[in-house]
Amino acid sequence: MTRHIVSVMGGKDAAAASTYESVNPARTGQVVARVGLADADTFAAACRTAKEAQREWARVPAPVRGRVIASIGRLVEANAETLAHLVTEEIGKPFKEALGEVREIVDTCDFFLGEGRRLYGQTVPSEMPDKNLFTFRNPVGVAAVITAGNFPVAVPSWYLVPALLCGNAVVWKPAEYAAASAHAMYQLFVAAGLPDGVLNIVFADGADTFAGLDKALAEGTVQKVGFTGSSAVGSKIGELTGRHLQAACLELGGKNPMVIMPDADLDLAVEGALFSGFGTAGQRCTSLGTVIVHESIHEEFVERFARAVRNAKIGDPEQDVLAGPLLDQKFADRYEEFLTWIQPHHRVVSGETGKITADNPHHDFTGEGGIYYHPVVVDGVRPDDQLFLEETFGPIVGIASFQTLDEAIELANLPGYGLSSSIYTTDPKNAFRFREGISAGMVSVNNSTSGAEAHLPFGGNGKSGNGSRQSGMWVLDQFTRWQAMNWDHSGRLQKAQMDVADITPDMDFRL
Ligand code: UN1
Repeated sequence: MTRHIVSVMGGKDAAAASTYESVNPARTGQVVARVGLADADTFAAACRTAKEAQREWARVPAPVRGRVIASIGRLVEANAETLAHLVTEEIGKPFKEALGEVREIVDTCDFFLGEGRRLYGQTVPSEMPDKNLFTFRNPVGVAAVITAGNFPVAVPSWYLVPALLCGNAVVWKPAEYAAASAHAMYQLFVAAGLPDGVLNIVFADGADTFAGLDKALAEGTVQKVGFTGSSAVGSKIGELTGRHLQAACLELGGKNPMVIMPDADLDLAVEGALFSGFGTAGQRCTSLGTVIVHESIHEEFVERFARAVRNAKIGDPEQDVLAGPLLDQKFADRYEEFLTWIQPHHRVVSGETGKITADNPHHDFTGEGGIYYHPVVVDGVRPDDQLFLEETFGPIVGIASFQTLDEAIELANLPGYGLSSSIYTTDPKNAFRFREGISAGMVSVNNSTSGAEAHLPFGGNGKSGNGSRQSGMWVLDQFTRWQAMNWDHSGRLQKAQMDVADITPDMDFRL
């Protein structure tokens, strides 16, 4: 039975202007949900509704809000399998990974339920007697959160959970091709007892969302924008929010490098490259972009990696496979373009390329009815190749080589992204030199470029983001504003910098 879902604001279903069909990418004939898409005015109306509800929500004591976050975590845990199956059905993420993704929501709730009893401010000494200084964290107001569909529930939770805990209201615009998963998560959040209007979900296309956001910012109903998606759209959101004197929280693309030193454990490196290159069919922000391998072990690595990729299982995401289909047809269309970036000087070492079909199978898998693609490894990638410089969201990994670690670091930074990175080495000196030199917000040592834990700062630099960080205590600075308070109980006007006691040193003193 196909679901019918629409936006919900203030606890009520909202009008839809058009309908979108979210399909199962493993069986494109199967419609997972018919999704009513809202227009720009509805998006702006949801932000007004959120603004109304936020005032009361901010008055709920933070520890009580923390209890609501605890309940969300429990509800997600109790519904983990159902939600994970829905994620698998809607975006084709292998079930085991989908379960991990759901686990990440629970981890995020576990971290923030206690933050309700912290949200620490400070007491600070004053420069004058009988005066006290304090700092408080205040909620920003309304957060508009726009998310991608490759992590349709985990990454949204990185925004929603801390934003709500801090006393903000949220308008969430998930990716339409992951709408059913988002709607299910929305239901779990409200079942935990969030008052109407504190969390609102709006389904809309990119253009209507942008126009609605523009309107809401002009109306003063949005104080924070969170966006996960492409660098191109991220820069447009940054521009729009900048005009309204706001700094968006941007989590954008990556061209994540993996450097393999001559002293590396090669089997471990191959395993890491396989998982980060082709898990989620290479469609994570943290997916491996280019392996930069030392020339002395280049051939050996290429041979082992190519073998592992050729043997990898691609297929029905409900089964035990490395990768299922691409998320949606629009990603397949873009991926087909990335394949045209393969040049005559490149060497495809993984076997077949392109769509998996009966005429172009992956082992005995024919990919019938789904958007399945061969995993591709391209050796001989050079620093001025498009394949080296630009993000290629999908199952394709390039290989380049280097002579010195400094050269490897330079190559790793060259594309100008800066989300995740990895080095395989058994020498701590190499690991720390890499850490210092790499421009990425996240560094793995002897681990893949993927697999960030939910309580460390997640975010990038350069084309990967504007320096904002999600997760852990660092995200609190996105969803609260510091307020400084001074309280003078001396009974007189003491002027800062002017009425301050002076203790005179003997500056002529010498030993
Ligand atoms: C993303 O790709 O947007 O580190 C997030 C990882 C996951 C999150 C990825 N925990 O791969």
